Amino acid sequence: MIAAHETITLNDERKVQIRSALPGDGVKIHAYLRALGESTPFILTNAADMREPEVYEQNAQKSADGSMYVLNAIDPENGKIIACTSLHPGSRAKIAHAAGLGTGVLPEWQGVGLGSWMLNRAIEDMKNRPDILRLELTVMNGNDHARRMYEQAGFAVEGVKPRSIRQPDGSFNDEILMGMWVGEGADHD
Ligand SMILES: CC(C)(COP(=O)(O)OP(=O)(O)OC[C@H]1O[C@@H](n2cnc3c(N)ncnc32)[C@H](O)[C@@H]1OP(=O)(O)O)[C@@H](O)C(=O)NCCC(=O)NCCS
Repeated sequence: MIAAHETITLNDERKVQIRSALPGDGVKIHAYLRALGESTPFILTNAADMREPEVYEQNAQKSADGSMYVLNAIDPENGKIIACTSLHPGSRAKIAHAAGLGTGVLPEWQGVGLGSWMLNRAIEDMKNRPDILRLELTVMNGNDHARRMYEQAGFAVEGVKPRSIRQPDGSFNDEILMGMWVGEGADHD
């Protein structure tokens, strides 16, 4: 549904290509998600959850057919996916107006504006979609960079699920529920 295809310059002057996920991206999405999961306790996926690349190819197909929104950032030096922001509309009619958001940037590309650029781009794209009225996500307690980024983009805290995450070392995290209205009445910058 999006035809984003552009090159942006990050705060450290590196350039990255931004584009929707395309059929054939499954292997690259798999590699990105594995690397992200190994780098941080703050996303749900870890190595044990990784599926075959073919499974991730389904997301690329869904991006192409418009049933999912997947925005990728690509390192122009090697073609690898280095960041991704995805939105998944609810799968049943009563929740189809609400899209769940996931986002991540690989460590060597963090802290130079890429995550917030992609988040804000995704929000603007959703404000232009009449079928999507609400965005929602969860962020773990302790993930202060992500939470601040979401708050700056317009998300508000809506609740907390205490100890809903159990890390591989047995420790627990809370999930902070955040949401944002992008339908009628939302700001259209
Ligand atoms: C959270 C994440 C997506 C942010 O992306 P990013 O490209 O690093 O973020 P940006 O550079 O756009 O910065 C966003 C905000 O976080 C702050 N920030 C990001 N990384 C930081 C760092 N290493 N140190 C200090 N501040 C940092 C920035 O200062 C910025 O706030 P500001 O605009 O007030 O300065 C990224 O760090 C990430 O993928 N983390 C691991 C996975 C994850 O936590 N995903 C979210 C799950 S809910």
